[in-house]
Amino acid sequence: MNNNELIDLANAAKNKSYSPYSKFRVGAALLTKDGKVFQGANIENAAYGVTICAERTAAFAAKLDGNDEFLAIAIASDSKDYITPCGACRQVLMELCGEDLDVIVTNGNGDVKSFKLNELLPFSFGDKNLNS
Ligand code: THU
Repeated sequence: MNNNELIDLANAAKNKSYSPYSKFRVGAALLTKDGKVFQGANIENAAYGVTICAERTAAFAAKLDGNDEFLAIAIASDSKDYITPCGACRQVLMELCGEDLDVIVTNGNGDVKSFKLNELLPFSFGDKNLNS
């Protein structure tokens, strides 16, 4: 699975977005080390605060399926700008996927950028802090 294929799966997931309030569709595709892909999309709620982002739906689906080793997550939206994960999603991805995760983001021109999760959430809080 290459980055472009993972991005295509993030775009396909975007079509499953439930975003009647923001009308801002986001899709994610999370790749495990053994080649499985878990898709996610944002799911909104009339009580806005309980909305969940695409990245977290993908990460939770993967965790529930018993996966603990990941390579990359691709994120797609309809925006002309690059969409990077929100702070809450960065924290969840750090916990479930680890700091070496490749975060692949796209913009409306089809351009691609890639970051390590550690670049997006440096000096993160994690289980290491609870046990020290
Ligand atoms: N959203 C995501 O799903 N992922 C992001 O990285 C940024 C924001 C969603 C949450 C909400 O449903 C909509 O986009 C607008 O904020």
